[in-house]
Amino acid sequence: MSSFRGRTIQVVNDLSLDEQLYLYEQTRKLKHALATDLAGAEQFRVNDSDLGVYLIFLEDSTRTRESFRNAAKFHRAKVNEFGLAGSSFAKSESITDTVKMLAGYSRNSVFIMRTPHEGTCRWLEDVVGRYCESHGIAPPAFINGGDGRHEHPTQEFLDEFSFLEALNWDRSHIHLALVGDLLHGRTVHSKVNGLRVFGEVEVDMVAPLSITMPLHYARQMENHGFRLRWFESIEEYLSQEHVAPLWYFTRLQLERMGEKLRDRAASLREAVTFGRWFIPRLSERMRFFHPLPRHRETPVIPPFLDQLAVNAWDEQAMNGYYTRIIQIALLAGHLGADFRGEAQRPPRFSDDFVEETQPRSRLKDDYDYKIGIKPVADGIVIDHIAVGEEPQTIWDQVNKIRRTLGLNCVSSHGVFASEQTGRHKGLISLPGITEFDERIIKMLGAIAPGCTLNLIRGRRVERKFRLRMPPRVYNLEEICCKNPDCISHPRHAEPVIAEFYRSGDENFVCRYCETPHSFNEIWS
Ligand code: CP
Repeated sequence: MSSFRGRTIQVVNDLSLDEQLYLYEQTRKLKHALATDLAGAEQFRVNDSDLGVYLIFLEDSTRTRESFRNAAKFHRAKVNEFGLAGSSFAKSESITDTVKMLAGYSRNSVFIMRTPHEGTCRWLEDVVGRYCESHGIAPPAFINGGDGRHEHPTQEFLDEFSFLEALNWDRSHIHLALVGDLLHGRTVHSKVNGLRVFGEVEVDMVAPLSITMPLHYARQMENHGFRLRWFESIEEYLSQEHVAPLWYFTRLQLERMGEKLRDRAASLREAVTFGRWFIPRLSERMRFFHPLPRHRETPVIPPFLDQLAVNAWDEQAMNGYYTRIIQIALLAGHLGADFRGEAQRPPRFSDDFVEETQPRSRLKDDYDYKIGIKPVADGIVIDHIAVGEEPQTIWDQVNKIRRTLGLNCVSSHGVFASEQTGRHKGLISLPGITEFDERIIKMLGAIAPGCTLNLIRGRRVERKFRLRMPPRVYNLEEICCKNPDCISHPRHAEPVIAEFYRSGDENFVCRYCETPHSFNEIWS
């Protein structure tokens, strides 16, 4: 049984490094077989007319859609295609409803999606997975064929395969220049994780500052140990000695730019276009890659380079067909039974955000809350809310806790100065409430990390807990991803529940589009 069957590839990291290498190895064998011995390619063919391959392309595409369509035909699968026009999307049907229905049409389905809504495959994996389970249907596989400006993992796989070919399968080191619109180009964002198949990685960013690589991607690269350098134009890049042998170009993504950037498109493009006058500076070992399409009138790699040895983009585009044949074969469960490496595991969350601490004094009279709050004999006191913040911030926090937890009972609250430190803090006193369930405690930890929860019995602090930020915040009406292109954003009216993972001490990333948020930003 293949461990790849029914998996989702929303981002590059949905396959472990070992699984990515397995994909490249299988692709290499397939490509060789198709070039030399057609019979040898049969082992890769699913050959199942009940395998449903659904191409749902809500944005234009030629290469991704056609290479997947041809790959599906190689497998002799059922191929179904949906676009915005001619389907119920035009009647405002949600993508969730459409895909649930289609999942029931085949024993084994692979959905390939290109959407402007980031994180769509992750959402469908969850919701359609649950739907299939309750209907006794095998859960389908989802492949992200490009979601907004987020990721394009299948392009990344064909890019890495092409780099490996160019480097003669030597994975010890790569030196790559990323040239073009690094801000909006999802194919360069996928490089953050795709390039990890190489031991030592040097990446040169060649782009004007206004379209250079977003900082959070650059930080992730540095965390992986990549060495980064920054240049604002090809001219500047070629004026120094250490020029990469492999260059990866991306076009200017005008359709994703705001008006201000679009107005400057000509000068931005000039900085990242390979001019004829640079030809003498090409070395024999240099190879250029491009996910394509090139712009007909203003290509960053002009046609005068097409016939030169530097042209690696044509072979790269062909590799899309081979890598996608293998991806369908893996996710349909046809290949992968002999995979022996480490598989990707779903993230695990520890519930270590509640820490029981020793009450300073168990006597309630010592726990006197001064002005306006009567000590409770039995109940719960939420203390140390937003310690050290300005009183207005603390009031906002107190109100948020009351509103989110629905604390509309007889109770009191306030903002006070601590006797020990003089710093301000918020406090909510809840007489008569004797326990909170785990869900409420998680919510409290998410809204007011650092607060304490005191259980008062017979005027004594019986138990005291300090709450830290939980590793995952979800299922709260008041949280929302700030990225308007995220599938979970309310403007898309899909029934997605916002969910965030803690990525550092104070930061969270959206489960769907992976946009980083500060803690305060997740609250709508
Ligand atoms: N490289 C790529 O994704 O091209 P298409 O937009 O033509 O699919």
